[in-house]
Amino acid sequence: MSEPVRGRAIYEGKAKILYEIENNPEHLILFFKDDATAFNAKKRGSWERKGVVNSQISAALTTLVQKAGVPTHFVRNLSDREQLVKRVDIVPVEVVVRNYVAGSLARRLGMEEGGKLSQPFVEWYYKSDSLDDPMLLTQWILEFGYATMDELSAMKEYALTINRVVGTFFDSLGITLIDFKVEFGRSAGSIVLADEITPDGSRLWEKGTNRKLDKDRFRRDLGDVAETYEELLQRVEAALANS
Ligand code: TMP
Ligand code: ASP
Repeated sequence: MSEPVRGRAIYEGKAKILYEIENNPEHLILFFKDDATAFNAKKRGSWERKGVVNSQISAALTTLVQKAGVPTHFVRNLSDREQLVKRVDIVPVEVVVRNYVAGSLARRLGMEEGGKLSQPFVEWYYKSDSLDDPMLLTQWILEFGYATMDELSAMKEYALTINRVVGTFFDSLGITLIDFKVEFGRSAGSIVLADEITPDGSRLWEKGTNRKLDKDRFRRDLGDVAETYEELLQRVEAALANS
């Protein structure tokens, strides 16, 4: 394939930009920005190399789950913060998997963070910034045509595989995968993992100390945000180099 020629931006999100490719209609360039937002962009920040760290972590974790049989949009890295990805139609249902009580689950039910769940929870949220990503019932998703039952089954199965593969990987680094969010797209009629797997969309706690190695450092003003993201990338890269 000839080198992709970056065309116009077709979508700019809070942390990434999607560009068309002039000589290739089937793929897009996914560019990771240095911006961070929280609470649906009510809080904004930015730090140097944030996009590089997230792009590298996401490429590494997406490759791991791809090897475990989950189809994904990822094709290859183009630069330290740009990826060649398949063009997909994003399903407007965000999939959250939880292994421990934290975040909105703890808040809604007035619970302490950190309790282990008896089994992973899979939850659906509507991808809508203006509505603050409300939680969805399966019935609502089917009624309003956001996804079909077959698509939800595939998304649930893939999300649980991602949980197992990424959770086992982080376990080996001394890190617990508390919860995460993934998004899926439709490619030639089938469901594929799209978007990213990064510390922006997951909770990662150091075993023993429960030190947070994820975007809660930014959301909750815990300090050392850039340093912690860099540390996580180094630990991921070191583990992959030894595997
Ligand atoms: P929550 O506890 O706020 O519902 O989030 C659960 C996990 O999903 C957490 O790791 C953050 C991630 N997440 C996002 O990245 N974006 C979102 O819009 C939502 C709702 C969750
Ligand atoms: N992803 C959302 C945002 O960027 C919510 C969050 O991460 O807190 O605003």
